[in-house]
Amino acid sequence: MAKIAVLGHGVVGSGVCEVIHENQESIIRRAGQPIEVKRILDLRDFDGLPYRDKFTKNFDDILNDDEISIVVEVMGGVSPAFEFSVASLKKGKSVVTSNKELVAAKGAQLLKIARENNCNYFFEASVGGGIPIIRPMHMCLAANEIDEIAGILNGTTNFILTKMIKEGTSFDEALKTAQDLGYAERNPAADVEGYDACRKICILASLAFGRHVYPEYVHTEGITKITLEDVAYAESWGGVIKLIGEAKRIPESERIECLVAPAFVNGESQLANIDDVFNGVLVRGNATGDVVFYGKGAGKLPTASAVVADVIHEAKVSGTSTSLTWKDSSENFVLPYDEVESAFYVRAAGFRDSSFAKERISVLFHGVSFLSRAGQPESEAAFVTESMSGGLLMKKVEALKEKGAEILSVIRVADC
Ligand code: HSE
Repeated sequence: MAKIAVLGHGVVGSGVCEVIHENQESIIRRAGQPIEVKRILDLRDFDGLPYRDKFTKNFDDILNDDEISIVVEVMGGVSPAFEFSVASLKKGKSVVTSNKELVAAKGAQLLKIARENNCNYFFEASVGGGIPIIRPMHMCLAANEIDEIAGILNGTTNFILTKMIKEGTSFDEALKTAQDLGYAERNPAADVEGYDACRKICILASLAFGRHVYPEYVHTEGITKITLEDVAYAESWGGVIKLIGEAKRIPESERIECLVAPAFVNGESQLANIDDVFNGVLVRGNATGDVVFYGKGAGKLPTASAVVADVIHEAKVSGTSTSLTWKDSSENFVLPYDEVESAFYVRAAGFRDSSFAKERISVLFHGVSFLSRAGQPESEAAFVTESMSGGLLMKKVEALKEKGAEILSVIRVADC
């Protein structure tokens, strides 16, 4: 019998208790032994629950219980989740988490402590909710050099963009619908500003490239400035706008590219038709080619499913430390954003007429393709540039501004 403790009885924590209770028989078959939730840590009272006697408000009740061998940390946030995880690992208790903020901030450190104490730190649920991605990347794709990862990693923003693309809903209205349906928080910043997607691409990049990628060094843009006009220009170009987290190996270099930003995605890309709250992650291996993972990236039971799968895995490998790990790194590991090369979509206004706009833009940006949309004013121009560094693009955009143009949008063109 493996006895576990659950830190946090919120959406995911209660889902973990439910899945373990509901699926006990198949879990015994797969884990080779029963799994029992022995204690649950939460500061709130849950008097009405049948398992109310398992609750404690004191973490020491869990830490000092030698029968508890696995700690499930689903509290969220860095502190006290970090301190509780460190203390558990130092006692030889393996930790399973869905806490992407903590893994992205402190993963290298926690993995090291786990290894030193012959136990494990597992985090399948931290990226993609119920989509298996961490273990497939770590184990099934282990023979590959990963060249690139590109993903739609945030369901809320994908839902908002899908509403804008398919129904012509404005960003504000689509956000409100997402909030009414419970997808977006009342304070939606973590989703719409791209921070959630950033944590997830950092975790995937760390795993793929073997060194910790810290969110603070990763260029992160959200979707708050995307307009229906941009959506229309993307359609005329032959694609859609998606919030893409991307990480790429730079050949013959110790560095990687890593960023989160809205991007024009070609209609033929495997990511173009991943809609609504679904997530999709494309992993490009040098032996497999493209592999795409698709499914529900959030929600109580999908996320609990990934947490419990890690618990079952730990119950089977208990007493050994697996190879799931990466080293620490520094700021230099990630190429500065202004050195990353890409094509860009630019929308600008303030021109006398469209032929004047085309002439002026063509002098500054060589080899652009102009786009059009229904209802486009004479004073507005939209175009896609050739591939260039972000730094060079911004210089050219500044030069266009100095000539009197108003820059309305600048969006990357993804090559995934
Ligand atoms: N807020 C996240 C999303 C869910 O919308 O994808 C969990 O990461």
